[in-house]
Amino acid sequence: MRNFNEFTITDAVIERVQQAENPRIREISEAVVRHLHALVREVRPTQEEWKFAIDFLTRTGQLCDDKRQEFILLSDTLGISMLVDAINHAGGEGVTETTVLGPFYVESPPERALGEDISGGMEGAPLYVSGSVSAADGTPLAGAAVDVWHSDEEGYYDVQQLDAIGGLVMRARFRTDEAGRFHFWTIKPAAYPIPHDGPVGDMLAVQGRHPWRPAHVHFMIAAPGHERLVTHIFVAGDPYLDSDAVFGVKDSLIREFVEYQPGRAPDGRQTDRPYFHLHYDFQLRREPARRA
Ligand code: BEZ
Ligand code: FE
Repeated sequence: MRNFNEFTITDAVIERVQQAENPRIREISEAVVRHLHALVREVRPTQEEWKFAIDFLTRTGQLCDDKRQEFILLSDTLGISMLVDAINHAGGEGVTETTVLGPFYVESPPERALGEDISGGMEGAPLYVSGSVSAADGTPLAGAAVDVWHSDEEGYYDVQQLDAIGGLVMRARFRTDEAGRFHFWTIKPAAYPIPHDGPVGDMLAVQGRHPWRPAHVHFMIAAPGHERLVTHIFVAGDPYLDSDAVFGVKDSLIREFVEYQPGRAPDGRQTDRPYFHLHYDFQLRREPARRA
């Protein structure tokens, strides 16, 4: 087959990818070809515009290393991460809603005891976080792994300033107690712009968009027999709740970070500064029973 033109090339490529042995590869390859060809037909790029697109993707890849993942940012800012998340987590009665993982999670964070302060001495307003983990039917989940991570009061994560601070702070893994509860101290996070000094930042600028995310604390919660929960809790009243650069906000994930005057905190600790309190009760979906 040869002499393809605008009207025959798509079917020819689709026919060629039918040779894939794996049916899922076949299905995805065909959809990729169909949708990309439709995009090109709709947009009718000039050769210069197509070269620009290739250069944009090349720069996106070249910026990726073990600390920077520009392709995830691209997926996030185009709403694709949240679309994949929505398809895979339909929500449901009694199950905490999910949102994007983001690029600042660190595998196997430092294990800390309940009640510890994970701020590592970073400047900021003290924040007391308490909560619980249960199954959708309310059964408390003891021993669940609760991973938390968040930004500092200027909106930077520890991994963005490791040279200056020397180690992992404002992140930890806790284990829930017998009643499925957890609590710890840290500092109140701030809203922050996603990294926007690369091609994704250029894209946001030409699209007339800002790069900001509303202030939040990330949680990843795992318990045997339950689906892993990846979510964040957002600070009520944040000015970016309705324009999150990565489309991650859900009403059920917004909570007041309540301010208290100095005194005795809920864990009995005496504070000499005003502090904030966040409380959230998480509910995990049971994993579908596996057939023997
Ligand atoms: C984050 O919340 O850490 C995040 C999520 C998506 C893109 C950038 C940052
Ligand atoms: Fe974040």
